[in-house]
Amino acid sequence: MKIAIITGASSGLGEEFARRLKDYFPQVEQVWLIARRRERLEALASKLQGFPSEVLPLDLCDKSSFSALADKLAAEKPQVAVLINNAGCGYLGDVGQGELAKQTTMTDLNVTALTAVTHLTIPYMAAGSRIINVSSIASFCANAHMTVYSSTKAFVSSFTRGLAYELKGRGIAVTAVCPGPMATEFLDVGNIKGNSKTFATLPYCDPKKVVAGTLAAARAGKVFYTPTGFYKFYRCVAKLLPHAIVVHMAKC
Ligand SMILES: NC(=O)c1ccc[n+]([C@@H]2O[C@H](COP(=O)([O-])OP(=O)(O)OC[C@H]3O[C@@H](n4cnc5c(N)ncnc54)[C@H](OP(=O)(O)O)[C@@H]3O)[C@@H](O)[C@H]2O)c1
Repeated sequence: MKIAIITGASSGLGEEFARRLKDYFPQVEQVWLIARRRERLEALASKLQGFPSEVLPLDLCDKSSFSALADKLAAEKPQVAVLINNAGCGYLGDVGQGELAKQTTMTDLNVTALTAVTHLTIPYMAAGSRIINVSSIASFCANAHMTVYSSTKAFVSSFTRGLAYELKGRGIAVTAVCPGPMATEFLDVGNIKGNSKTFATLPYCDPKKVVAGTLAAARAGKVFYTPTGFYKFYRCVAKLLPHAIVVHMAKC
């Protein structure tokens, strides 16, 4: 059975990935939806048309979720045609202030869980399989006041570059998408809404267009996809200018 796995499928970008997947990867026969909120996943699963889905209510910050996923993969031995590492969170706030758990949740989810899910899934992939990692424009240069978040996304982009090279010989493509801000629950969860001048000023990306562009880029085997001309330009600026200058412009 050819399956897709989507993490963070209960809202925002992940939900949209589930809705649009079939348009770009019609060979997928079943989708596994992962997030903590079971009822949201079940509501989505009931609406998905064209292919059945399975709900896996897992907390990816709890390491026992890795063995649960490993056991399910070992029991069912699917062929993973598409893995979408989308679950992520970003909290506004300086290191050394506020709750420690917020800082470590970002590294647990955005780095450790993404690495674990990818590591567990690759043995079930074949030539033509695709991995999509949801990174961010935050990966282009450190964002002060969201320092841990931007560091986790720098990991995601670097991980994608290295993994794409490792898997090229097996015919598996890896794509990182680097969107700018989007109006999703991410802004409320991270206490960003109303508290960041940068987020209030920057142009927002449309999650529907981001998902469509990402799925097309992954199908084409591109390693990086940055939506909108504005953020493509920022990516170039962040490559060309010294980061001692960019970090000032990029603070949250
Ligand atoms: N929105 C933006 O401005 C923006 C910009 C650039 C990049 N991104 C990235 O886009 C990705 C998707 O975010 P979004 O904007 O769609 O935000 P979102 O609506 O808050 O979605 C986050 C998803 O991650 C899941 N999740 C959170 N903690 C989890 C955990 N411990 N275990 C399993 N799943 C967990 C959430 O589901 P549950 O709560 O049900 O677990 C939810 O489905 C993230 O990687 C984010 O960093 C967002």
